[in-house]
Formats: sequence, structure tokens, C-alpha cells
Amino acid sequence: MTPRDGEELFELSMWGGAVERRYRQLRPEVERLPWADFDISKATPEAIRAARSTWTEAAFQEHRTGAACAATLQALISARAPIDLVAMASRFALDEMVHVELCARLAQLFGGGAPLSYDPKHLIALPDAALSPKLQASELVIRNFCVGEALSIPILRGSWHAARQPLIKAILGRIVKDEAAHGAFGWLYFDWALDFHDEADRLHLAKQAARTIDAVVERWKLIPIIDDEKDEQRLGWMESRSYLDLARRSLQQAVFKPLLERGIDPRPHLTASLDA
Ligand SMILES: [Fe+2]
Ligand SMILES: [Fe+2]
Repeated sequence: MTPRDGEELFELSMWGGAVERRYRQLRPEVERLPWADFDISKATPEAIRAARSTWTEAAFQEHRTGAACAATLQALISARAPIDLVAMASRFALDEMVHVELCARLAQLFGGGAPLSYDPKHLIALPDAALSPKLQASELVIRNFCVGEALSIPILRGSWHAARQPLIKAILGRIVKDEAAHGAFGWLYFDWALDFHDEADRLHLAKQAARTIDAVVERWKLIPIIDDEKDEQRLGWMESRSYLDLARRSLQQAVFKPLLERGIDPRPHLTASLDA
């Protein structure tokens, strides 16, 4: 696959030596995962091909989320968010790098990452620099945490429940553990930030949440519905119909409900249809 202008192939590396040892000390649980417990001898070649691209795409999404967490952290510091709240958010980028490694190593075990090219200059969307620091921080938190992370947690938990292969289950379990704190963060942040925002700010935040939800719903359309999907063909993801049902329910429960409770209503600004 040749990347288009401005795009690069999504390829990753580890530096190794003392740097890797420091990293392993920070997150020793990575090496404790059952890496040797990986047998895909019963998987069909199609299932293995699908797993390579699913786990490469997962590594890429974790990589993007790492950038989103880092951008949010910078905005929180600029907004002079409480030190303890900022400190809490400072570990998220590291968590995401761990998730990148886990997904990429899994793709490697399936025979190597699938080719994926992307534009590194437009990895994530940033708020308008003319907005106040607090509104920029709130925009990033609402998009990346109150929608992105809050929605991915129930889905990851569902995939963890559905996973049969021990290594895949352990990897998903590790990710689910870290993500629980990420999902709660957005709501904690707004307990602090909400009073700083007037009606106009809340409208801006509602529109930003709607934009993010639209993008998520667009991605659901790309999920192929397979009627007789067999367990052994799913190497770390849920059956497509259960996935979409859970995703729609989670959008209502984990995103709309808490946003509405905080006086932020993205529903009038959505362009995507939420109907099944
Ligand atoms: Fe993650
Ligand atoms: Fe996360």
C-alpha cells in the first residue's frame, strides 16, 4: 500500500534497552500477560486476516486516543484546572501507549500489522485557538472523554466478556481496567468546570458532542452484519449485531443521559440517524 500525499504508513517501534526497561518498570503488568498462551491453530485464514486488520485498527485508534489525551492534558494545564485533577489525567497518555503496544503485539502474533496509512498532521481535531482556555479544555474533555471514552468502555467490556482466547481476553481485561478511570474522568471534570460556562458555552459544547457522536455513528455503518458468524471466527470482537445493540444502548445510557443531567443536549445538533 503506497500512502497518499501527506500520509504515512502506521508503523510502530520500540527503542529497547534501558528505555524499554524503564517503561516495563512503569507498567510491569504488560509482560505478565499470558503471551505464550496463544494458539490460533483452529482459526481459518479469513479469521486471521480479519484479526490482523482489526487489531491494527485498534492499535491505531489507541494511538489517536493517546494524542487526544495529551492534547486534553495540555488544555487542562492552560485552563488551570485543579492540580489533582490534572495529575489524574496525566497518566492517561501512558495508559494509551500501553494499549497501543498490546494491540500491536497481538496483530504481530496474527502475522503482522495490516497496511494502514494516515495523515499524522491531522491525527486529532483541536479546538479553535480563539476560544477561552477553559472552553478549549471543556471541548476536548467532552469530545474525548464524555463521548469517546465513555462510549468505548461498555463496548470494550462487552468484547472482553465475549472473548474466548485466553491472551485476547487478558489483553481486553487489561484495557478495560485502565479505561474505567478514563470514562469517569469526563464527568469528574465537569463537576468542576460546568459552573464556569454560560448558555453560549453549553451550546458550543452540545454541538461539539454532537459532532463527535455523528462521527461514531458513521463508523457503525461500516460494521458488516454477518448472520452466521461463528465463535472461532471472532478473535477478540463481539458478534456484529450484539455490538451494535450494545453501542446504541451505551450511547443513550453512558453519553446522552449524563450530558442531559448537566444541561448539555447534543440531540438537536446531530446529523446522523440513531435508528437501527
Ligand atoms: Fe485505550
Ligand atoms: Fe482511554
